[in-house]
Amino acid sequence: MVKSNSRKWFVRAGQEPTDFELRMMDFERRGFLVPSRKLIKNSEQIEGIRQSGLINTGVLDLIEKEIREGMTTDEIDSMVYDFTTSHGATPAPLNYEGFPKSVCTSINEVVCHGIPSKNRVLKEGDIINVDVSTILNGYYSDASRMFCIGKVSEEKERLVRVTKECLRIGMEAAKPYGFVNEIGCAIESYAKKNGYSVVRDLAGHGVGLAFHEEPDVNHYASSKKGMMLVPGMVFTIEPMINMGKHHVVFNQKDGWTVTTKDGLPSAQWEHTFLMTENGLEILTY
Ligand code: MF3
Ligand code: CO
Repeated sequence: MVKSNSRKWFVRAGQEPTDFELRMMDFERRGFLVPSRKLIKNSEQIEGIRQSGLINTGVLDLIEKEIREGMTTDEIDSMVYDFTTSHGATPAPLNYEGFPKSVCTSINEVVCHGIPSKNRVLKEGDIINVDVSTILNGYYSDASRMFCIGKVSEEKERLVRVTKECLRIGMEAAKPYGFVNEIGCAIESYAKKNGYSVVRDLAGHGVGLAFHEEPDVNHYASSKKGMMLVPGMVFTIEPMINMGKHHVVFNQKDGWTVTTKDGLPSAQWEHTFLMTENGLEILTY
């Protein structure tokens, strides 16, 4: 029995409920985990996130053009900061919970949240994830890509490619009025089929009015359905796929860097998506 004061959707005094509200009330009464009202973005908010996403994509396109062997990850950070601020936006990572830089740069066995450094020079054979997040007029977007530096081993190249396919497969598994867990089920089964493991300790997330909102988007199959995916929701899918085992280590010294426990490479691709009545639309393409 759902207590009336814990309900997310209810008829407001003196207001006829819309068909959409009635539908949400019905799902909630039947026991499904439905999103709260504030997770359903209106058209003005969606437009704001879309504009933020355009700048975010501009940053990634610039990095894709410029990244090369011999460059430091600190130079990537400077490019992200300069491009973002010169377009009237702010890099979301900068000072986020104490993060010291404008972008995350995660190389080889670094799973995510790598901190750019003057001392880390990109060398032939590295695979690097550049994770860019932008705030424009208060609206957040979040996406990342992998880059191969010079000639990369065939096994690393395959990891990068299959991880990109995992993102596409997760995207296609997400159905309007379906559930978050369908994304993780699809991604995990594809990763396993390819001999890889899925990182379990970090997830995708709602995004748009804040950097991290509900729901958590796991990239593995959970025993729970998770939240219903309703048109108007905006969230990331960002699978982190390991060549070896799924276990990760959180660096206690810098407070951020996440690496694979077995030291084998990891890859990640990410987009920000809008759920529509016809499935997901990419807002960071
Ligand atoms: N961009 C990461 C994500 O995809 C979050 C990074 S938090 C930071 O959720 F502070 F490290 F930037
Ligand atoms: Co993210």
